[in-house]
Amino acid sequence: MNWRALDFSDMEERLREVVKCIDAVTIAKKFLVRGYNVSPEAAKLVASFSDPELLITEVCKISKNSFMICEEDVLSAIKSLESRMVQKVQGELRRKEVQAQERVRVLKDAGNLAVEGNVEDFVAYFNSRLEKLSKIFRTRIQPTPIRNLGRLRGEVVSVVGIVNNVSDRKESVIVELEDQTGVINCIASGKVAEIARELLGDEVIAVTGTLRGNSIIADRILFPDCPVNGNRKSVDFGVAFISDTHFGSKGFLEEKWRSFVKWLNCETSMSDLAEKVRYLIVAGDIVDGVGVYPDQEKELAIVDIYGQYESAAKHFEGIREDIEIIISPGNHDAVRQAEPQPSLPKEISKLFPKNVKNVGNPALIELEGLKVLIYHGRSLDDLVTRIPRLSYESPHKAMEELLKRRHLSPLYGSRSPIAPSKEDLLVIDEVPDVLHSGHVHTYGTGMYRGTILINSSTWQAQTEFQKKMNLNPMPCNVAVFMGEKIYRINFNGG
Ligand SMILES: [Fe+2]
Repeated sequence: MNWRALDFSDMEERLREVVKCIDAVTIAKKFLVRGYNVSPEAAKLVASFSDPELLITEVCKISKNSFMICEEDVLSAIKSLESRMVQKVQGELRRKEVQAQERVRVLKDAGNLAVEGNVEDFVAYFNSRLEKLSKIFRTRIQPTPIRNLGRLRGEVVSVVGIVNNVSDRKESVIVELEDQTGVINCIASGKVAEIARELLGDEVIAVTGTLRGNSIIADRILFPDCPVNGNRKSVDFGVAFISDTHFGSKGFLEEKWRSFVKWLNCETSMSDLAEKVRYLIVAGDIVDGVGVYPDQEKELAIVDIYGQYESAAKHFEGIREDIEIIISPGNHDAVRQAEPQPSLPKEISKLFPKNVKNVGNPALIELEGLKVLIYHGRSLDDLVTRIPRLSYESPHKAMEELLKRRHLSPLYGSRSPIAPSKEDLLVIDEVPDVLHSGHVHTYGTGMYRGTILINSSTWQAQTEFQKKMNLNPMPCNVAVFMGEKIYRINFNGG
């Protein structure tokens, strides 16, 4: 048995030698045609190369005046080919990186602009808010400065100001309005009073009415609002929207996340939509954080914040590399709590894979022409608390109110802390195609005057705190915008 096997392997070896020699002869002929002689060793070396034709061309190129091609000539040609190959691969990678960077344009990253927060900034902040939003009104009405109203008694006037105070007197509502020149009371009754009752305070509005004594009898209350845009945005790629992943929490829904990633990576049968997805936007609360609310440590699976981000980065690594991931922070993340919030610091962002881009909160980005305003959504708590018709079950309805007020956090110093800067960076200067928020852990999508509204749920089960507050999350719902439609994909089962 053994001798036969040995004999057979010997035969195989000989055969291989013969084939090699034939190859070497062919190689030698190819060199001869080009006017070169080649040593048998050099010919063998060329024959063993994966692409002999390419190598022969390279050898001839670098050995122009040689009479005989030897092994050294072939080796230096291989070296030269290899270095060109490495350069090509590097160039290709760089080109892909540049392409990806160009595809995601950050138009405005409020979180990464300097905010000092002293008393002068506070005054400048409100002046900026009033000025920016007055500008929007001036295209529709001609407001009179409050100081100049005295001369216009009995006339119909328009004023623009910041809401200082709202007092409900049952039959009527008195709105105290302030501009840079003075303060005036506006008395609203009937339908106008209904609008006045929904004022949060600190927002900029316009009031039109008749001047009686020292007050305005209001006929209309106007919001800066968005122009009606009938042109529905359409894209030939998919954008997936998620938020509030809360990595590090005991409530993080690991199995459901894995199903989502499997779907996104086109590893399931329903991959038609998934394969079109080019972008994934994450609107804050990437991790659960540490010490965000009392007794939070009891609900943490990872008690150290760095560890929570390491876990987050690992989970994002599982997503296919050609998807650009844009991450914006929320109130559970390791950045300043006051809005605007900066993007995640370097020591954390470096943990994430290369296809992750970090932006602040809020940030206006453009994806191949699609303008997306990302805002975590802390002020949605203010809106739901103050306006009885709004609820956490329909978060997109509360988001409409932000667009109407053209401000991401109108009420100053309530549940949403704001860092005052010389410029109010939370004003919605430019109306986006999509407004994307999270924070409330429920799912809701809608359309307001041409802007798509998306609130993108969570990946955390109901917490003890939410149980006490009777908040019912709708976890693991992903919104995907593709074509002109928003698709809802539920990974929570049912
Ligand atoms: Fe959250």
